[in-house]
Amino acid sequence: MSDNQVFPVTAAASANTHCTKDNYKALYEQSVKDPDAFWGKEAKRLDWITPFTIVKNTDFTGDISVKWFEDGTLNACVNCVDRHLPEKENVTALIWEGDNPDDSVHVTYGDLYEHVCRFANVLKQQGVQKGDRVTIYMPMILEAVYAMLACARIGAVHSVVFGGFSPDAVAGRVLNCESDYIITADEGVRGGKHVPLKANVDEALKQCPNVKSVLVIQHTGGIVGWVEGRDVWYHEAVKSVTADCPAEEMNAEDPLFILYTSGSTGQPKGVLHTTGGYLVWASMTHEYAFDYKDGEIYWCTADVGWVTGHSYIVYGPLANGATSLVFEGIPTYPDASRFWQVCEKHKVNIFYTAPTAIRALMRLGEEPVKKYDRSSIRLLGSVGEPINPEAWLWYYNVVGEARCPIVDTWWQTETGGIMISPLPGAVDLKPGSATLPFFGVQPALVDADGKFLEGAASGNLVITDSWPGQMRTVYGDHERFKQTYFSAYKGLYFTGDGCRRDADGYYWITGRVDDVINVSGHRLGTAEVESALVAHAGVSEAAVVGFPHDIKGQGIYAYVTPPAGVEATEDLRKELVTWVRKEIGPIATPDHIQFAPGLPKTRSGKIMRRILRKIAENEYGSLGDTSTLADPAVVDDLIKNRRNK
Ligand code: WT7
Repeated sequence: MSDNQVFPVTAAASANTHCTKDNYKALYEQSVKDPDAFWGKEAKRLDWITPFTIVKNTDFTGDISVKWFEDGTLNACVNCVDRHLPEKENVTALIWEGDNPDDSVHVTYGDLYEHVCRFANVLKQQGVQKGDRVTIYMPMILEAVYAMLACARIGAVHSVVFGGFSPDAVAGRVLNCESDYIITADEGVRGGKHVPLKANVDEALKQCPNVKSVLVIQHTGGIVGWVEGRDVWYHEAVKSVTADCPAEEMNAEDPLFILYTSGSTGQPKGVLHTTGGYLVWASMTHEYAFDYKDGEIYWCTADVGWVTGHSYIVYGPLANGATSLVFEGIPTYPDASRFWQVCEKHKVNIFYTAPTAIRALMRLGEEPVKKYDRSSIRLLGSVGEPINPEAWLWYYNVVGEARCPIVDTWWQTETGGIMISPLPGAVDLKPGSATLPFFGVQPALVDADGKFLEGAASGNLVITDSWPGQMRTVYGDHERFKQTYFSAYKGLYFTGDGCRRDADGYYWITGRVDDVINVSGHRLGTAEVESALVAHAGVSEAAVVGFPHDIKGQGIYAYVTPPAGVEATEDLRKELVTWVRKEIGPIATPDHIQFAPGLPKTRSGKIMRRILRKIAENEYGSLGDTSTLADPAVVDDLIKNRRNK
């Protein structure tokens, strides 16, 4: 797409905006030249118990230390709930829209306060104390939000595990952060299908003898197994508590949550976010990137199991006193109009979703979109993966009727919130570009040797200095934090993304340059899928790569070598697909499994993934140099039996 296709800031977007074309540059300059002054002022958007006197204390060298507002104290839940009272007592905080289109609920800030306080008291009754880790494995129901805020209220650290993950994935995360408490529901519902959450927890906990209590929300009423002395029904426990629960005074650098995410090696790591800096970041980015104004209805379609749900369904919007919509369902149930039907029903003003959903809906045509009135929408957002210009234009013209700006927001679990994104009233749009950095964000491009690239260039995306929403460490493994993000380029945070900067200084993210694949906006490590595969008796060796996929962005392509004596049959192929789904979860379902008698290795035994990627992309005509292969003949077999023809 041409760098010159520009959609200028509209009059509607620049009216009453938080940031205009005229002041973006000056504010940005100030934010990076004098971070102490800028963030010292900006952090006042929160209510502090003890005001901070130190703003920024960060070091990207040596042991890597990131501290913001370090002598201040506050409570995140109070900032998201209590402080909006009494003014917003009767204002809707959350709208819940069920999987079934007949189900919806409005919760005011007054109600939210009561629900959260009661939930917090139930947690205390279970024995949860400040600093304890609590695993939340829930469907998209209001109690998921109450549970997160209740943890924050009493100073417990939540670790939300996406409801689509397998029992093994739950167990790994529970053990890694030594979480003795689980909150779940009997079942979830998505697209009319029931998800057996409690049964999955029961299965997971066979590996976790440490767990003391499982708090179960009754959602569908489905039949569940029960372990006396461990399992507790929430609706029964809540009867004996009051709605009076004082909030803990937390230090700005006390942990708020852990969220597991995939990397290029090993098992998922626990990204740790703390209280003050994270909340300042979530709140400010929500307000500016969406140009949020009081009274607007805001809908982010993500799941609270991902960071997008943390920052832009729960913490950002609620810190700003917004009305945030929580959606249990999927875009295509009961039919392909669901998103737009919900927008019409609740008069949604700001709509934030992922490119994979847009591409899937684009295939189904304009009819399902046009069936519903979208005149309430004034701003569209995109997140999770690069949005291709075709999908951008369809989103803009068909969904947004060519009148709503699109904010393409680049960020990561690690960054806590939006990093590169247009501000709707200030930055002209280019389809496919995340455009310019947010306040305080200093992106740079480097080549493989770490040399800074100036002007229009392509390279690896790094961030040169800290921002308040940055992750602080990998839970329990600071060494891994240093290794993963700060060892590639000295003194710089390495994002793992490739990126191009055009002559106007606009950033165009090109995707991961490491062994992370992005399937429908969900991150997976190739190593994770490989280790699931080799755990099966029918696999002696496996190599997994991503390949371009029309709807999912990237698909999963696995090369598998069965051990001697095991036949490579269609049945084994099917079994391995089911196996990976069971080991990790449906999002890790391989699109293609190719049986390979041998993998392309160098003489020192290193698998040449470059070659496997090319074959998976069906680009085997341009394999490049294969002269270092131990056995070049394996490549011919791989090409002959490729699956993505
Ligand atoms: C990776 C982070 C951000 C919350 C959801 C995903 C990719 C994310 C964009 C975008 C191009 C994007 C990057 C990034 N990504 N947003 N707007 N344009 N790429 O969080 O699971 O931590 O994944 O998602 O590759 O590194 P995550």
